[in-house]
Amino acid sequence: MYMSIALALHVITVVIWVGGMFFAHQALRPAAVSTLEPPLRLRLWVATFKRFFPWVWLCVVVVLVTGLWMMTQFPKAIYIHSMMGLGIIMMFIFMHVFFAPYNKLKKAVAAENWPEGGKALGQIRMLVGINTVIGILTIIIATAGKFFQ
Ligand code: HEM
Repeated sequence: MYMSIALALHVITVVIWVGGMFFAHQALRPAAVSTLEPPLRLRLWVATFKRFFPWVWLCVVVVLVTGLWMMTQFPKAIYIHSMMGLGIIMMFIFMHVFFAPYNKLKKAVAAENWPEGGKALGQIRMLVGINTVIGILTIIIATAGKFFQ
């Protein structure tokens, strides 16, 4: 019973986090580049992150708590350790984005310093791209891993 709740919460929050990054990187980013001038585009990203990042914090907490709890219920297979390792790397990358370039982006937009804002957004784009790839890889390991034991 508790296991099914934990697994459902774990997977739902993974879907929100990784799906949100995929959408931002693959759909919203190219659409914003082709339709908006830098001042509006950078404002759009601050407004978008302001709404998405609180959800990511929630996802980080839920993924970690449910994942660690499930680990106490399972024989700890290698694919589960790989998932945990990659998951923790994803969490550190997100926290870096949140406290470093996102902070710079907010300050630059408030000061209407568009070149600085563009630099910060470029860093966020690269790190979110990396996290999306790690996230998809982690999902493959988490789901297919049990068939390779
Ligand atoms: C950070 C620490 C994490 C821990 C300790 C952890 C641990 C676990 C455990 C113990 C299970 C149940 C194993 C099973 O059903 O065979 C599980 C399932 C799963 N995890 Fe994680 N996980 C973590 C992060 C992540 C991340 C970051 C992702 C994806 C980006 C992820 C994706 C999944 C998926 C898709 C399942 C369902 C697998 C299935 O039932 O087929 N996990 N996780």
